[in-house]
Amino acid sequence: MANFPSKVKIVEVGARDGLQNEHARIWTATKVELIDRLSACGLKVIEASSFVSPKWVPQLSDAEDVYAGIKRAPGVSYPALVPNIQGMQRALKVGVEEIAVFTAASETFNQRNINASISESIERFQPVMDLASEAGVRVRGYVSCVLGCPYEGKVPVDTVATVARELLQLGCYEVSLGDTIGVGTPRAAQIMLERVAREVPLDQLGLHFHDTRGQALANLYACLEMGAQIIDSAVAGLGGCPYANGATGNVATEDVLYMLQGMDIETGVDLERLLEAGRFISAALNRAPASKLGRIGKL
Ligand code: HMG
Ligand code: MG
Repeated sequence: MANFPSKVKIVEVGARDGLQNEHARIWTATKVELIDRLSACGLKVIEASSFVSPKWVPQLSDAEDVYAGIKRAPGVSYPALVPNIQGMQRALKVGVEEIAVFTAASETFNQRNINASISESIERFQPVMDLASEAGVRVRGYVSCVLGCPYEGKVPVDTVATVARELLQLGCYEVSLGDTIGVGTPRAAQIMLERVAREVPLDQLGLHFHDTRGQALANLYACLEMGAQIIDSAVAGLGGCPYANGATGNVATEDVLYMLQGMDIETGVDLERLLEAGRFISAALNRAPASKLGRIGKL
């Protein structure tokens, strides 16, 4: 029996997951304007940047300036990725109120992405969690490679479930499941979600699907059918991971919203305004929007 939710929370990741993968320099002012435009769309969660090593992800080395520049709208959360205590200290200095820690269900990917094994990464997060708890900062957790790894291929669903549970036990209020390289298909997504939901309540699980092989909307539909209610997506389909070769954009927020509207699932997001934000950033990057809706330019 289908168990579609009546509401879905969208976590907009374009300004972080999207832009982190761009090679050409993007001005801080452009990032700030993108985030301010996203704030005006009714989105409640907008990932703004990462406090990671500037040597690893130079594009986001202006995280402090981005946070100083954006207008934080009331009721909107602007999480940043934080990999270690150094990142947490930087985030606290600019008043970040929500962060995300990130690890993977694949050892090789984790080494390449954050230079740590899975268990080392969880140990590394403990002092970050302690600081966050002292400062009243909410923490989201990410598990990458939940439907496959660019280095190891198949990833066991039991490993995904274990890592997700560890993040929850660490104190994350929500765990986002990343199909980092967009290899999943709908039935595989359901099997993975069903297994993880035995460890982490379904209403605390986000779906973070990259659309590399055009499967993301179908995968989301399959998970919505099971009652999933949190979706990560990127305006204009921006995205990728610099440490996952060939990983293209996240599923486009515009296309997700169009599908959800057609299913009478509420999000509180204004699709027209979002299309405008998508046009803005695509023009700034000198390319056509990767969203299907952005390409036809209207609803
Ligand atoms: P490391 O080289 O092992 O770190 O990197 P280290 O502690 O040895 O430090 C090396 C240098 O980096 C030192 O500087 C540190 O000060 C500096 P040096 O002494 O050489 O001048 N450093 C920092 N500087 C600023 N901020 C920091 C910081 N930490 C160290 N926070 C580290 C380990 C975790 C830092 C590195 O691997 C890193 O930053 N990785 C981030 C990679 C990343 O951002 N990947 C993309 C995000 S994940 C993703 O996209 C997937 C997701 O979307 C979900 C999905 O799709 O699956 C979330
Ligand atoms: Mg991602």
